[in-house]
Amino acid sequence: MSFFTEREWCDSTLSGDTFRRDVLHGLSQPEKSLPCKYLYDETGARLFESICELDEYYPTRTEIAILRQNIQEIASLLGPACHLVELGSGSGMKTRLLLDHLEHPSRYVPVDVARTQLLESSARLTRDYPGLEVLPVCADFTANFTLLDSGTTQGRTTVFFPGSTIGNFEPREAATLLRRVARMCGTDAAFLIGVDLKKDPELLHLAYNDSRGITAQFNLNILARANRELAADFSLPHFRHRAFYNERAGRVEMHLVSRQSQAVRVDGREIRFNRAESIRTEYSYKYSPNGLRELAARAGFAIAGRWTDERQWFGVYYLLPRT
Ligand code: AVI
Repeated sequence: MSFFTEREWCDSTLSGDTFRRDVLHGLSQPEKSLPCKYLYDETGARLFESICELDEYYPTRTEIAILRQNIQEIASLLGPACHLVELGSGSGMKTRLLLDHLEHPSRYVPVDVARTQLLESSARLTRDYPGLEVLPVCADFTANFTLLDSGTTQGRTTVFFPGSTIGNFEPREAATLLRRVARMCGTDAAFLIGVDLKKDPELLHLAYNDSRGITAQFNLNILARANRELAADFSLPHFRHRAFYNERAGRVEMHLVSRQSQAVRVDGREIRFNRAESIRTEYSYKYSPNGLRELAARAGFAIAGRWTDERQWFGVYYLLPRT
């Protein structure tokens, strides 16, 4: 298994050039889109934290409740001296739940694009868990990133991928991502993954159209980010947030809809919008238990543990490589 040696490592894929290239590419397609990973600059990461506390946004508290209720069983499956890699670590709250119950976890490797939040939460974990080696990686886990060698650990590597972030990938990409991360973490690596399940579309609608408008701010922040980082001139009041459940595709879609016909400049280029034309900013796939089993199989994994809430709104799955 290979891991980096630096206490903190920043990936070149986070450069402004990549953002510029992706924005110009996405906005010059017949159906305009922006990759959802760009929702998470420092402001976006903070807004997402606020979303997680909204009454309407059930996934975070449901997942935490599932983890709490089943933590002994989960910890014993992950085993002693566990080496925990976390994708999209955020504020690290669910991590603490795990770390508090694992038997002598050996190393914790949070991977996240939001640098300040990553470093702050890593510093807090280093302080609070003296025996644990904390090695933050500031990187885009959707791109290839290299993990340099830092010795071996006795326990199994488990990749913790909570929050249904897997749902933000199209199912085929999701399988590729799981395969690629597993390859980087060693043939024996397991996944502990949180997945939002299919449910009443009305509940989904409320979760992505909250009454306080935080999700709308989160969505619009991607344009504000382009203004800040790419000297673009999006007028935010000229776009509106739209989120809906696409039942046929099994996903919530988040869009920014142009309120009028307009032209915007991005990095010296003119991008034209018709009235009601939209930019798709996110897919959020919702899985059925069968759909999740198929995804795991496509990635080369079998379900070795499954926990859910009473209403079956959210699932936490433990995946092991298929032998
Ligand atoms: C991070 N991800 C799983 C969230 C979701 O529900 O798809 C992002 C989000 N978008 C709008 N609200 C929350």
